[in-house]
Amino acid sequence: YVIGIDLGTSAVKLILINQTGTIVEEVSKSYPLIHEKSGYSEQEPEQWVEKTREGLAELVNKFNGNVTDIEGISYSGQMHGLVLLDESHSVLRNAILWNDVRTTAQCKQIYDVVGKERLLDITKNPALEGFTLPKILWVKENEPELFAKASVFLLPKDYLRYRMTGKIHSEYSDAAGTLLLNVGEKKWSTEICQLFELNEELCPPLVESHECVGTLTDEFAHQTGLSPETKVFAGGADNACGAIGAGILTEGTTLCSVGTSGVVLSYEERNDRDFAGKVHYFNHGKENAFYTMGVTLAAGYSLSWFKEVFAEHESFEQLLDGIDEVPVGANGLLFTPYLAGERTPHADPTIRASFIGMEGAHTKKDFARAVLEGITFSLHESIEIFRESGKVIEQITSIGGGAKNETWLQIQADIFNAKVVKLQSEQGPGIGAAILAAYGAGWSSTLQEIADLFVQQANVYEPIAENVEKYKELFSLYQDVYKQTKELNE
Ligand code: XUL
Repeated sequence: YVIGIDLGTSAVKLILINQTGTIVEEVSKSYPLIHEKSGYSEQEPEQWVEKTREGLAELVNKFNGNVTDIEGISYSGQMHGLVLLDESHSVLRNAILWNDVRTTAQCKQIYDVVGKERLLDITKNPALEGFTLPKILWVKENEPELFAKASVFLLPKDYLRYRMTGKIHSEYSDAAGTLLLNVGEKKWSTEICQLFELNEELCPPLVESHECVGTLTDEFAHQTGLSPETKVFAGGADNACGAIGAGILTEGTTLCSVGTSGVVLSYEERNDRDFAGKVHYFNHGKENAFYTMGVTLAAGYSLSWFKEVFAEHESFEQLLDGIDEVPVGANGLLFTPYLAGERTPHADPTIRASFIGMEGAHTKKDFARAVLEGITFSLHESIEIFRESGKVIEQITSIGGGAKNETWLQIQADIFNAKVVKLQSEQGPGIGAAILAAYGAGWSSTLQEIADLFVQQANVYEPIAENVEKYKELFSLYQDVYKQTKELNE
C-alpha cells in the first residue's frame, strides 16, 4: 500500500491505494482560509499539520490490514504559498497563499530589477502576484523585523513533510513556481537571490519528486498509528501530480482539468522552449521533464456562478439537460468567462465577462451552452499557444467538472479539434502523489508503468469536422470580444 496526501487550498485529502491501483480508504479534512484584507489569502501552517495528522489517524483506523504493509507516503501540494521559518524552524507568520494578490508592486519591482527577458531566461515564467518571490519581497518590505529572523522558506506541502519527517527539502516541480529557480538548469538562481539581496540559504535543498527524504518521526508515527519505518517521498506541485495522475508522461499528452479555475497542461521533454511567458513552464514530477500550462481563472466557477444566479434550484444535471439539442454556437449567443479577470493569455485582472448577441428568443439552455462554450474557448487559447510553438496536440485527457457531461466533452473535442479522452476514475493530484510514492518504493522501474496500472481510459470523443469548422469561426469572434471589451473595462 501507499498513501497519497493532497494538501489543497480548502482541504487535505488522503487516499490509501493498494498494489493494483485501487483506492482502499479515503479521508478528507477541511481548514479555513483567512482573508484579513481584500486581496489577502492566508492559512495557518499548523492547521495543515493538525488536519493531516487527524486524517491519517482516521485512515489508519479504518484500514483492516497491517500498517507495516504501508510502504510509502508522498504529497501533492497547493503551489506557490510562502511559509517562513526562523533558526529553530518555527513558523514566523501565516502562510501567504497562491491566490493572495497583494503583491502587484513587487511583481513590477521584479521586472524592473531583473528585466522581463532575463526573468524568462532563468525562470521561464512571468512575474505573477501568486508566485512566491513577490510574497518574499512583500514580507521583506512590509515586515522587515520578522523577515530578519527568517532562516529558510518552504512551500506548503514541503512544510507538512518537514513536520512529518523533521527534514527540510523542496523539490523541483514546486520550486519551479517560486520565480527563484532556474527551471531549465534545476538549481536555485544565485543571480536572482543576489539582485534582491536574499541569502541563498533561504532556499531549501532540492530533491527529485520520487526521492525518499526519510521516514516518519517517532512522534508523528505514534500520533497517527503509522509505522515509524514508513518511507516518505518528496512529492510534487498539485498540477504536476495532476499530470502524473492522468498519465501525462510522454510528449504529445495533454490534460484539461476543470475545477473552480481550469488548466490545460502539456507534457514537455525539452528545457529550452520559448513560450515568451505566455504560459507557465514548470518542472514535472517526472525526473528531467517539464510541462507547460495555461490557466482559465473562472472555468467551473463560471458555470457555478450561472447556476447560482439563474438556476438556483436546479442541479448541474438539470441545468445542462438538453443542451445537446442546442446547436453549435448556442443560437448566436457568445460568452467570455472573465468573471474574475483572466490569466492565459491576457494576464489581465481588470477584464470582465460578457454575453454577446442576446435576443428575445434565447432560452436558459442557450445560455447554459454558451457558458460551456465560452469556458472551452478560453481553455483553447492555451492549446493554441502550445500549437503555435510547434507542439502537436491530437489527444487531450479531460478531468474534473469538464468530464462530467457528455455534451461538454464533445464541445471540447470540437473546439480543441482533438480527441478527448475521459478516464474511468479520476482522483486528480492525490493519485499522482500515490504514484510517486509507489515509484519511489520500487513498485516498478518507470512512472509510466504504474500510471498505466492506476489510470484507465473510459471513453474517447472524436472531433466532428462540421462542428470544428463552425467553432473555428466562433473562436475568432470570441477573441475579438476581448479586444473590443477591454477598453470598456478600463
Ligand atoms: C498554479 C496555481 C494553482 C495552485 C492551486 O499556478 O496557482 O493551480 O497550484 O493549488
